[in-house]
Amino acid sequence: MELKNQKILIIGASSGIGKAAAIKLAKEGARVVLVARSEDKLKEVIESCPGEGHQYFAIDVKDEKLLDNAILAASKDIDEPFTGLVYSAGREGTIPLKFVKNDLLNDILQVNTIPAILITKILQKKGVFALDGGSIVFISSVMGNLGQPAKVAYCMSKGALVAASKALALELAPKKIRVNCISPGMVTTEMSSKVLDSISEESILNIKRMHPLGIGNVDDIVNGIQFLLSEKSKWITGIDLVIDGGYSAQ
Ligand SMILES: NC(=O)c1ccc[n+]([C@@H]2O[C@H](COP(=O)([O-])OP(=O)(O)OC[C@H]3O[C@@H](n4cnc5c(N)ncnc54)[C@H](OP(=O)(O)O)[C@@H]3O)[C@@H](O)[C@H]2O)c1
Repeated sequence: MELKNQKILIIGASSGIGKAAAIKLAKEGARVVLVARSEDKLKEVIESCPGEGHQYFAIDVKDEKLLDNAILAASKDIDEPFTGLVYSAGREGTIPLKFVKNDLLNDILQVNTIPAILITKILQKKGVFALDGGSIVFISSVMGNLGQPAKVAYCMSKGALVAASKALALELAPKKIRVNCISPGMVTTEMSSKVLDSISEESILNIKRMHPLGIGNVDDIVNGIQFLLSEKSKWITGIDLVIDGGYSAQ
């Protein structure tokens, strides 16, 4: 699934799924534009990306103005429109209901959900996205469809992302821009390691038991991202591709 002549914006590219996607997509011939907060980590990721013309921007996704400036600059610097977006920025949240506050709910939406929509909007500005269309992939979670105690904030943010992707799929279909979600089960990354480090052995065993094929790795998700960005999925839009080692089959 080659991605030559593609220019892909990857948000949350400094670690985990976004980082692995950046390196793999560059290997397949895509030009990648990376966004996350940590400049040092983004520099390292760019150095691991084969090919030329990759760019990065150290930005907090909560800052819409900076995102707008960066995306417009990236579309002008190298005179090639974007053909794809991967939105993988996210924060975890394990907080029992009695500790949930307005600020927490807003904050998690401001990172996990709202920027995905605003970035999709910025990409619609004149000359920014390819006129013959392309593909947008939001990374949601199995928890966008399934509940878990103490996960109300995270589940809300991920379920909203799935719903938003379907609405955008319909709105952008006339422009031949496809919009899909991927909902991973647990895969080994910095985020999931933090979760596993903070819970008991028994809870870890439970999580492992809930994944009939075991805990996944980033490549399991990146394969799905590559498929949804490629021509092989040209008739697929508005879906939620669940990649979860059997978690949600139960
Ligand atoms: N790992 C799993 O098991 C799993 C399962 C289901 C769904 N997911 C979802 O998959 C996505 C990627 O997760 P991951 O496991 O790869 O996590 P990760 O390794 O922690 O990576 C998260 C990425 O998001 C970026 N980010 C976080 N807050 C940001 C902000 N305010 N502004 C800009 N960038 C920000 C981080 O970069 P900086 O810190 O440099 O900003 C990092 O690049 C997330 O949306 C997560 O919810 C993960």
